[in-house]
This record gives sequence, structure tokens and C-alpha cells, in this order.
Amino acid sequence: MKRKEKKRVGALLLAFVLLACMLAGCGSSAADSRQIVRIGHNQSTNHPTHIALLAFEEYIESELGDKYDVEVFPSELLGSQNEMVQLTQTGAINFCVASNSLLETFSENYTLFNLPYLFVSSEAYHASMDDESITGPIFESTRQAGFEAVTWLDAGTRNFYTVNTPIETLEDLKGLKIRVQQSPTNVEMMERLGGSATPMGFGEVYTSLQSHIIDGAENNEMALTDNGHGDVCKYYSYDMHQMIPDILIGNNDFLEGLSSEERAIFDEGFALVNQVQREEWVKAVENAKDRAANEQGVTFLYPDTEPFQEACLPMHDEMLEKYPDLAPIYEAIQAYNEMYPAEETQGGSGE
Ligand code: GCU
Repeated sequence: MKRKEKKRVGALLLAFVLLACMLAGCGSSAADSRQIVRIGHNQSTNHPTHIALLAFEEYIESELGDKYDVEVFPSELLGSQNEMVQLTQTGAINFCVASNSLLETFSENYTLFNLPYLFVSSEAYHASMDDESITGPIFESTRQAGFEAVTWLDAGTRNFYTVNTPIETLEDLKGLKIRVQQSPTNVEMMERLGGSATPMGFGEVYTSLQSHIIDGAENNEMALTDNGHGDVCKYYSYDMHQMIPDILIGNNDFLEGLSSEERAIFDEGFALVNQVQREEWVKAVENAKDRAANEQGVTFLYPDTEPFQEACLPMHDEMLEKYPDLAPIYEAIQAYNEMYPAEETQGGSGE
């Protein structure tokens, strides 16, 4: 059985076991009638996302500890992000963190935040994501699919990194196989930039780089250190093509089953996740850049981003034509872009 199939079978088995456990109430002793709240994500236990979810666990248990026992599962323990979204959808788990990229296959509204060069600065990105008139219609749009977004998490700026080809111009990307996230927008972006898009789950990237199935990938700086990609890829190039948030999603039935007092406490908890994650993110990115340069020997490059932008910008009009309902939200983001123009220095991911 191939590794991918094995993982899928593994996740299905896990879903089955979790479901059986939930029905049988396992994990709680006879005296412990607390409901287990399962949250899955695909990052390590050092990652800002994990630290923020532990703060959530502590907060919920300090307020509602007699009723809920929160358990955080890191490192794809519950499956790949795609699998975890499906587990959240069916209610086999209560929450998971998914990249915005993947959610576009569940609701077209999410396509918007996946557009390359949508935000001109991290300030414009943060202000847009903090504006509920922008995120509201998007976050609610998956209700019919069984889940809802409850907050967003910073995932910095995505840039290309390669095993042995420094990317300084579009020419350099020609013919290279680059891993992208599994979404139509990301595949189109890669094609427009001239590389060959190889969509795959995050957990498979390291081995694929190591075995030369792909020539490179694209992500924030933490992928170099936390996921070890910088052990294989020695060039990281700040073309700044996307700022794609991670999204904490929750199962609808679980959220709707909370009393209004409980929901208010959970909402406080979601706000805490966002706050802690963003604080931790700034430190983590600085750290990752330092470690990648000094311990892994990664060279950071700062190409002229304009040709990259020009190649991708037609995707904005294309999206607006396809989804005209998203135009007012797109315009609201442009207002933040004017308010917070591009930063002078590049490579300030997450600051
Ligand atoms: C980032 C992001 C993850 C995502 C990953 C990827 O690490 O935070 O949510 O899964 O990129 O490229 O797949």
C-alpha cells in the first residue's frame, strides 16, 4: 500500500475509533462526565499555533473545567489538514486548524484570501483579517458544509525555497517542480509564474524534497526550521507571493450545542488563540530566520518582486469576474492596502 493510501486508511480508522470512543464515552471515567473537546493541527509542539491552543485549553478548563476536557493533537496525529477538515465537518473531532488554501474547495468565498499579492503589507493583511465585515461573510460560508471559522492565525508570508536553484527572476522558476498547497488557486499561481505545480499535503514535503521528487516548495520561514526543509533547501527567496492565514474551524453541531454563556466563554477563548498565536509568531519567525541562516546555512535572497506580481495580478480580475459577490470585500481590502502601503524593506514576515 502506498504511503498516501496508508495515511488515508489510518485517518479513516482513527475517525472510526474516535467516533466509537465518543459514543462509548471513552477517555472519561464513570466519575468524569466531562465532554472531550478534540482539536487537531499539523504543526509541531514548538509552533505558535500549538502554544496558542494550549492557552485555549487552559482558559476553557479554568472556566468550564467541570464540563469540558480540551485535548490538543499536534503534528498531523489526527491526519492531514484535508482529513482533519473532514473529521471536523462530520463532528468526529470538534476543531482543527486548516490553511485558508484548503478551504477554497469547501466554499468558493475562501478563494479571495488565497489570491497572490492580495495584501500589499502585513499591516494591511492584519487589519483586513481583524475586520469582521471582511471575514464574517467568508467565515460563515461553510455552515452548510458542517463547520464554521472561529478565528484566524498568522502564517506569515509565503516565499519560494529550493534545493539548489536560487530564485532571483521568473526565468529561474522555469522547469522546476514546486510543491504547492492543494488548491486550484495555488496551482494556477504556480503555472503563471512558470514553475511546475506539484500539489501535496504538508507532511509529505520533507521526504519529497529529500528524494528530489520536487525541486522546491513555498512557505513561511518556519517551514525551514520547524519542519526541517532548510536542511535540504539552501535558498529562500523573498518574492512575497502570498499571505495566507490559517483558520481555526469548529464543528457546527458542537458550536450550536453550547449554551449562550458557554459560547461567550468559547468566544473569549478563540480571541485568546488569535492573540497568543500572533505574539508568538513574531518571535518564532525571527528565531527561524536566525537559525536557518546560521545553523542550516540557508541563503536569503531579495529578488525584484514586480515581475512576479505582474504575472499573478490577472488572477484578481479573473476571480472578481467568476465571483462578483466578493467584489465589495475585495474593495474593502484595497482600502486597507492604501492605508498601509508596502513596506520599504522586504522579508518582514509577520511583523
Ligand atoms: C503553513 C501553514 C499550514 C499549512 C502549510 C502548508 O505551515 O501554517 O497551515 O498546512 O503552510 O504549506 O501546507
